[in-house]
Amino acid sequence: VDTPTFGTLRIRHDAALGVDHSTGRILGIEEKPALSPHKLVEQWTGSEHPASIVATVRLTADQFLMPGLIDTHTHAPQFTFLGIGHDLPLMDWLEKYTFKHESEFKDTEVARQFYHTVVDRVLANGVTFAAYYGTIHLESNRVLAETIRKKGQRAYVGKVCMDMNSPDYYVETTEETLEGTEAFIRGILDNKQERAGLVQPIVTPRFAPTCSQKCLSGLGALARKYNVPVQSHLCENPSEISFAQQCFPESTSYADIYGSAGLLGPRTIMAHCVHMSTEDLKALRQAGAGVSHCPTSNFALGSGLADVRKLLANGLRVGLGTDVGGGYSPSMLDAMRMACAANRALLAAKREKGEQLVGREGVPLDAGEVLFLATQGGADVMGMGAELGSLDAAKLFDALVVDLAADRSPVPSVQRTPAVACLHDAEDAWHVRLEQFVFLADDRNIARVYVDGRLVHSV
Ligand code: GUN
Ligand code: FE
Repeated sequence: VDTPTFGTLRIRHDAALGVDHSTGRILGIEEKPALSPHKLVEQWTGSEHPASIVATVRLTADQFLMPGLIDTHTHAPQFTFLGIGHDLPLMDWLEKYTFKHESEFKDTEVARQFYHTVVDRVLANGVTFAAYYGTIHLESNRVLAETIRKKGQRAYVGKVCMDMNSPDYYVETTEETLEGTEAFIRGILDNKQERAGLVQPIVTPRFAPTCSQKCLSGLGALARKYNVPVQSHLCENPSEISFAQQCFPESTSYADIYGSAGLLGPRTIMAHCVHMSTEDLKALRQAGAGVSHCPTSNFALGSGLADVRKLLANGLRVGLGTDVGGGYSPSMLDAMRMACAANRALLAAKREKGEQLVGREGVPLDAGEVLFLATQGGADVMGMGAELGSLDAAKLFDALVVDLAADRSPVPSVQRTPAVACLHDAEDAWHVRLEQFVFLADDRNIARVYVDGRLVHSV
């Protein structure tokens, strides 16, 4: 099962998929193959004597293969206070909980003890590729990057930058934050260990209100110098937006604060984008920047309802993020159903205001569409859409084996799918199962996780 474009759900029955063990790439995929595995490999490689088959894995009738989930926005240190402060708005939550917890990572030992459980948990949720924020601390960020590399997850890791409007126990000077970022980037790019390429650095100004003009421009220059991606927060909450405008009164929009510092480009991921002005949308579109939609967090912090169809209609790439700990759940499945709920609430609010909704505008996001956002959409936002996101020949094999009959599965197994009884003749029972997977499943159903062709987690 995969969804190569927004709105297409592709279900290939009884299919065979081959992975090249040495490159980690998909050799080929064929529905109802008539050939033996050896003959298929011969056909895919165009060679009569391909290397031998290392392993053959046969799925049960309750299992299916899908692309790995891509979390385009999460904060590794914020797993320390999951589920706390969800009666506060963003700025109060940052001050009361977030900065205090993140400052604990000044002690590298805290990072060492904590980050390995974070990465295990993210992998167990089927996340094969994540964009992580660390903290301001260089050494703890290095521990995070090294932990991810060792566990074999694909990731962007960012050293958080903040040099103003921050508590005195959790702030750096402009020089420290820029030098720390450069040292972090170089350390990762110079890493020659096995599978080092899976973990890449990402330039990470926390958000405009905690970064001086000099800090932002310096980070823009570093992103260009090392050709690395950029991540930050944009238009999350009304008081945050007015604070950003107060800090940068000469800017024409919130997005322009990042744009004029050279931080908006095709490799930029902007989280939230809930309250976007026409200028914000235009700035992102012109730069080719991507959006990380974080509905779990937007509900939990009362930030608002992002308009996914409008972002897409404006030509922006959109993926999903958990935004732990603004979001209380590290599950991308939760992010998917929250995206559906946020969209339904948004449509209801628009109708209540008497807005006329034309065409697709008024159609609720469906399970297939949010599955796209969590897979191919995320790959597109991460700038790796040609390499990842769907099950196509030549793409990297980042994938999950889902098991509907897992122990204590919250999803009905194939044997017990009463909903299938009400299918219309031509409908595929797997459409119903996929819908139930998106709305009911959790990490119990994620049986095996592969990154770059390797098994990195199994239950
Ligand atoms: N804006 C600035 N920092 C943060 C953060 O840590 N989480 C969220 N959700 N928004 C932010
Ligand atoms: Fe965030």
